[in-house]
Amino acid sequence: MVEQNEYAKIIIKGNEYEFPLIVGSEDEISIDFRKFRSTTNNIITYDPGYGNTGSCISNITFIDGEKGILRYRGYPIEQLAENSTFEEVCYLLIYGELPSKSEFQKFKSTLNYHDLIHEDMKKFFEGFPPNAHPMAVLSTMISSLSTYYPYNGDDQLDLQIIRLLAKVNTLAAFAYKKSIGQPYIYPRNDLSYIGDFLHMMFAVPSEPYHVNPVVERVLDKLLILHADHEQNCSASTVRMVGSSQGGIYSAIAAGVSALWGPLHGGANQAVIEMLKMIQKDNNDVDKYVKKAKDKNSSFRLMGFGHRVYKNFDPRATILKKAAEEVLNELGIQDPLLDIAQKLENVALSDEYFIDRKLYPNVDFYSGIIYRALGIPENMFTVMFSIGRLPGWIAQWKESRMDPDFKIHRPRQIYNGPNIRNYIPVSDRI
Ligand code: CMC
Repeated sequence: MVEQNEYAKIIIKGNEYEFPLIVGSEDEISIDFRKFRSTTNNIITYDPGYGNTGSCISNITFIDGEKGILRYRGYPIEQLAENSTFEEVCYLLIYGELPSKSEFQKFKSTLNYHDLIHEDMKKFFEGFPPNAHPMAVLSTMISSLSTYYPYNGDDQLDLQIIRLLAKVNTLAAFAYKKSIGQPYIYPRNDLSYIGDFLHMMFAVPSEPYHVNPVVERVLDKLLILHADHEQNCSASTVRMVGSSQGGIYSAIAAGVSALWGPLHGGANQAVIEMLKMIQKDNNDVDKYVKKAKDKNSSFRLMGFGHRVYKNFDPRATILKKAAEEVLNELGIQDPLLDIAQKLENVALSDEYFIDRKLYPNVDFYSGIIYRALGIPENMFTVMFSIGRLPGWIAQWKESRMDPDFKIHRPRQIYNGPNIRNYIPVSDRI
C-alpha cells in the first residue's frame, strides 16, 4: 500500500474538505475516509451492500472483475488450479507463501494427526433429525468445536487453525453419513486430504474403498477454485464476527451460515434445482430466460451474475472445461450439462444479459461436477465451505494481526419517526 500526496476534494454545503488517496499494489485507488465523519462534523457515507466501500487493506487475494483476473497471494488461479494441490493452497493463503518441501511435509502430517474429532462429538450427530440440512449441521458442529477445543488466546492460533482445517473434512463427511443412515467412517492418515474426504464420504465398513484418482484430482481443483474470494459476504462475516475478538470457531461457523444463502454459496444447489426444473418443463430454456428478464417475476438465472466479475468469472471458465472432461473420463452422460450449455448460449446472446454483464459464475458448472462425483445436492454448499475454509481463516488471521484492528461497527441513516410521547395502552384506541 502506498499513500500518495494526492487528495480527493469534497464540497458539502459549501464547505470544502480534502481526503488522502490510498493506492494498492495493483494501482487500485481509494479515498481514505477514516477521518471523514470527524472532519465533516458527523456526516457519513451511504453505501448499502458496500459495493463502493473498502472494508480493509488485504494482502491475500486480488480480483480484477473487469478483466476476469483472480490471484491468491499473487499467483494466478489458472496456474494454481492446473499445478497445485488444495493442501498447498491452504498453506499459501494462510501463511502467505508457498511452503518449502519440509514445511509442506510437516503441514500435511500435522493435518493428518488432527483429523479425528472428539469421540463425544458423535453424540451431537445422533441428535440431529435425519433430514437436517448438512450446512446447518456443519455450522453447528464448527461452533461446537469451541466447547471441545476452547480458544485459549492467539498464542494457540496455529493449533486452532490446523484443528479447523483437519476436522472440517471429518465433520462434513459425518454429517453426510448421518443424513443417509450409514456408519461413520474414520479418517485414514495414508490418504491425501481430498482422498481421505472421499473415503469418509463413500466407504462402508463392509467392503474396501479405492479412491478414484480422476475424482480426487477434479475435487482438488474445485476446492482450489473456491479457496478465497476476498471480501465476499461470508469472508466479511468472518471478519465482522472476529472483530469482537471472539474465537476463530464462532467466526468460521458464522461464515458457513452466511455462505449457505442462495445468492452466495447456496447458488450451486439452486443451479441444479433450476436445471432439473427446466428439464421437467420439456427443456424449455427460452421460457426460463424470459422469466429471468421479467421484472414482475422474482426468478433469477441461478449461477449467473456476480457483484465483482463484469466480463467473465475465471473460475467458471476453468470449471466448464473440467465438467466436460470429468464427465468424459467417468463415462457419464448428464442431460443437465446439455441444458446448462444451452442456457449459457441463449443467455450470453441475449441483450438483457449482455447489457447487465451477467455471465456464468463459479456455481454454474460446479454442481454438474459434484453430481458426476456422486456428491448429493444438499452437500454442494458444504463442499464450497470446505473449499472456502482456508480463505476464511486467512481473512480472520489477517484482520486479527492488522495494526488498525477495530471492532466492525457501521453507521446508519436513521429515517424512522421523530421523537413522540408514549401513550399508555389504556388511553389508546
Ligand atoms: N438473473 C437475472 N437477472 C439478474 C441476475 C440473474 N442471475 N443477476 C442480476 N440480475 C439483474 C438484476 O435484476 C439487475 O437488473 P436491473 O438493473 O434491471 O434491476 C441487474 O442484473 C444487477 O443485479 P444486482 O442484483 O444489482 O447485482 P448484485 O451485484 O447486487 O448481485 C448476485 C450479484 C450474484 C447476487 C446476482 O447476480 C444474483 O442474484 N445471481 C444469482 C445467484 C448466484 O448465482 N449467486 C452466486 C454468486 S457467485 C458465488 C459467490 O461468490 O457467492
